[in-house]
Amino acid sequence: MYRNYTCGELRLEHAGQEPVLAGWVQTVRNLGAMTFIDIRDRYGITQLVADENTPAQLKEMFDKLGREFVIQVKGIVRERSSKNAKMATGEIELDIKELTVLNKAAVPPFTIQDDTDGGDELRMKFRYLDLRRETVRKNLELRAKMAHVVRNYLDDLKFIETETPVLMKSTPEGARDFVVPSRMNPNQFYALPQSPQIFKQLLMVAGFDRYYQIVKCFRDEDLRADRQPEFTQIDCEMSFVELEDVLNMFEGLARHMFKEIKEIDPGAFPRITWADAMENYGCDKPDIRFGMKFKNLTGVAKGKEFKVFDEAEYIVGICAPGCGEYTRKQMDALTEFVKRSQVGAKGLVYAKVNDDGTVKSSVDKFYTQEDLAKWCDILEAKPGDLILILSGERIRALSALSVLRLEMGRRCGLMNKENFKPLWVIDFPLLEWDEDSARFYAMHHPFTSPIPVDIPLLDTDPGKVRANAYDLVINGVEIGGGSVRIHDSELQAKMFKTLGFSKQEAENQFGFLMEAFKYGAPPHAGIAFGFDRLVSMFAGLDSIRDVIAFPKNNSGRDVMNDAPSEIAQVQLDELFLSLVAPKSKTL
Ligand code: AMO
Repeated sequence: MYRNYTCGELRLEHAGQEPVLAGWVQTVRNLGAMTFIDIRDRYGITQLVADENTPAQLKEMFDKLGREFVIQVKGIVRERSSKNAKMATGEIELDIKELTVLNKAAVPPFTIQDDTDGGDELRMKFRYLDLRRETVRKNLELRAKMAHVVRNYLDDLKFIETETPVLMKSTPEGARDFVVPSRMNPNQFYALPQSPQIFKQLLMVAGFDRYYQIVKCFRDEDLRADRQPEFTQIDCEMSFVELEDVLNMFEGLARHMFKEIKEIDPGAFPRITWADAMENYGCDKPDIRFGMKFKNLTGVAKGKEFKVFDEAEYIVGICAPGCGEYTRKQMDALTEFVKRSQVGAKGLVYAKVNDDGTVKSSVDKFYTQEDLAKWCDILEAKPGDLILILSGERIRALSALSVLRLEMGRRCGLMNKENFKPLWVIDFPLLEWDEDSARFYAMHHPFTSPIPVDIPLLDTDPGKVRANAYDLVINGVEIGGGSVRIHDSELQAKMFKTLGFSKQEAENQFGFLMEAFKYGAPPHAGIAFGFDRLVSMFAGLDSIRDVIAFPKNNSGRDVMNDAPSEIAQVQLDELFLSLVAPKSKTL
């Protein structure tokens, strides 16, 4: 028996008992007559103490202990003279009677405590030590709990958890595939799934009716705080359902998670069309924790000899409440902010509403008080408010202002992480036109159904067709997305044609799916939640890396085991692969 209690378990009621603990040495404090050792395991920390009554032989052992040694101790629980209210075990200590070193440890490269001295790179290289830290482990515990809550909820509703292949044929979902060469099939490759999309649809053809899987997906795309090359989805599909059924079902799941994990009720989720989201927030994943909705000023701001506006396709503004006091320096900083290449605006026009209702703008030369009063009217600006305006090509102006809006939300302290504001974005465009390849791409994926009334537009004006698709957005983060699927092989063939696939290409890539659809495909629809994003949002974190046990860095590397890495020539030979000198990297 290594232990009969954990390091987080002992309380005053155990006083006088003689438990055995096992764990890691957190600290050793030698104060002469007294020595204190903190022993730590996953459950907590217990203070061990040796005093003048401790046998010399045992005391000698303490001097040899280092941080992170693995030890086993036996001792008598006693009440502490100076209690520590911050520790769960802070009322007691263990008077050591026996100590065994189970394993020595090298000095760790950073301290194993919440406010560690280790930088990001170092902690990732020694991730197994980082995971010993309570803050990091708690995130993984939350993840496990959330997966459990999801499983219980969906199991109760008769969803069948089904595993789908990891070695598969590529599905075109926008990102690049990770591919795996096949030794038994020379010069042929598997792809790792970007999602189990096709398999879950085939499971509907198979009559499974309700499917789910908490599943790893792989996408070879540029990485950011909310993107990892391998990530986890809560992937779901249902038969005999329409959009309304799916939104209700998965709003139910999301609400259940809020209740079980955060103990809150976020209320009914509002729905907003993609077109309205773009018009009012300049992006398809609006953060609605705060207002600052966009207002179109094109009609009132043009025709006053101000060239920048006169030449612009679109002029759009927001009102930042209470920011009218911003200094010249702050305004210059905001102007610099919008000019950064990530934002891409050429300049920023602003107007401050004074206490007496008059307006001071950066373009006073061109606009009278009467003109500016119209802006205030449209933007509902009051004394003390600040109006911020961008202009240019419509989509560019909207997207630049959406970044500025978030920056203002941040500056005004309106983005409290514990204030959760979910919403559904619906009615996405079905197709996106790509200038470079002069063809349409599916905005979601090629299996998404058009909104029925828009189907005739596929022949006349494909760009106008709306998709029967939806995204779940929480606090400006795309948490999930899905769609009603095409279940008719003719409509699917038409979709492939619109996407520029020849009959042969469609047959080669998706022949099996179209074949399956001939054998009685039920109407079906589904969704996938980004599980890492959901967990990191619930944990109040900014990066999904913090909720993944062994994440990759921003170059897609595992810095701990140094993957990806070269492979031996024999492996290459077996796979019929030969290496070429890398071209200059243009990622
Ligand atoms: P989609 O591509 O929208 O849909 O993905 C679903 C959700 O997965 C999350 N996500 C990611 N999370 C971390 N890292 C990434 N690289 C990453 N990429 C996506 C997002 C996203 O909303 N098969 C469809 C779903 C369906 O139609 O049912 C799909 O995969 O939170």
